Amino acid sequence: MAGKLDGRRILITGAASGMGREIARLFAGEGAQLALLDRDEDGLRETAGGSGMAVHVCDVVDRPAIGKVVAEAGTALGGLDGVVNAAGILDIVQFDDLEPESWDRMLAVNLTGPFNVVKAALPFLRREEMATIVNIASVSALMPMAGTAGYSASKAGLAMFTKCLAFDLGPKIRANSICPGVIVTPMTHYIQDNPEHAQRAADRVALKRLGQVEDVARAALFFSTEESGFTTGIELPVDGGFSWR
Ligand SMILES: NC(=O)c1ccc[n+]([C@@H]2O[C@H](COP(=O)([O-])OP(=O)(O)OC[C@H]3O[C@@H](n4cnc5c(N)ncnc54)[C@H](O)[C@@H]3O)[C@@H](O)[C@H]2O)c1
Repeated sequence: MAGKLDGRRILITGAASGMGREIARLFAGEGAQLALLDRDEDGLRETAGGSGMAVHVCDVVDRPAIGKVVAEAGTALGGLDGVVNAAGILDIVQFDDLEPESWDRMLAVNLTGPFNVVKAALPFLRREEMATIVNIASVSALMPMAGTAGYSASKAGLAMFTKCLAFDLGPKIRANSICPGVIVTPMTHYIQDNPEHAQRAADRVALKRLGQVEDVARAALFFSTEESGFTTGIELPVDGGFSWR
């Protein structure tokens, strides 16, 4: 059976864990050729398994290294039709205790990281008739939450960066962001480790459950195919009904 991503070559950051890993699994199953990027080598190898997917160990903040690695990845695949930026970090801390280093690092990884990756991938994406950029932002881009000044600012920046990309890079390149609510991944272990906390988080949303990585991966698939061919520059909440309340 034909896969929805047959013939498409896609670079995924944050592919060593959580959503990035599941996006890699789903996209590979849909026929994509993938380049997986993360700073965590062991996690990347676990994601790739024995599939022969290309893995690239790199920190998205390291601009020269990203330039080199993305160029290598695009050359090895014979081009790039899409990028998914899933690498990210979260530090929840009240503003009084938010250290400048933490602020700097969240902005660097969550906002400048996608900038570095898109800049490096652009010469490849430009060559294609239909290229896609998917940035994993957060509901924190849409609404304030306690203790997330740095994280929310980085994700709101990422969502607006994505809209501006949609303007500047269209019509042949589309750019969209996904805004997940609480999704079960290593990043949210602090919620999952406390059953009462997890239950409260589920009760808060219309669909009465925490999100799963599959929920986000399916949205990333939609944005990476022609099925979303007239959609660009949007923020799609994948949050069970949280951010609209
Ligand atoms: N889990 C949630 O509830 C949730 C909600 C909203 C948004 N998000 C966002 O979704 C994305 C994926 O998060 P996740 O939940 O899968 O987390 P995760 O911690 O499971 O995975 C994040 C991955 O990013 C990688 N990474 C972090 N910093 C990096 C860097 N500087 N360079 C390269 N790789 C780096 C990590 O090694 C890890 O493999 C992140 O951008 C996160 O901010 C997560």
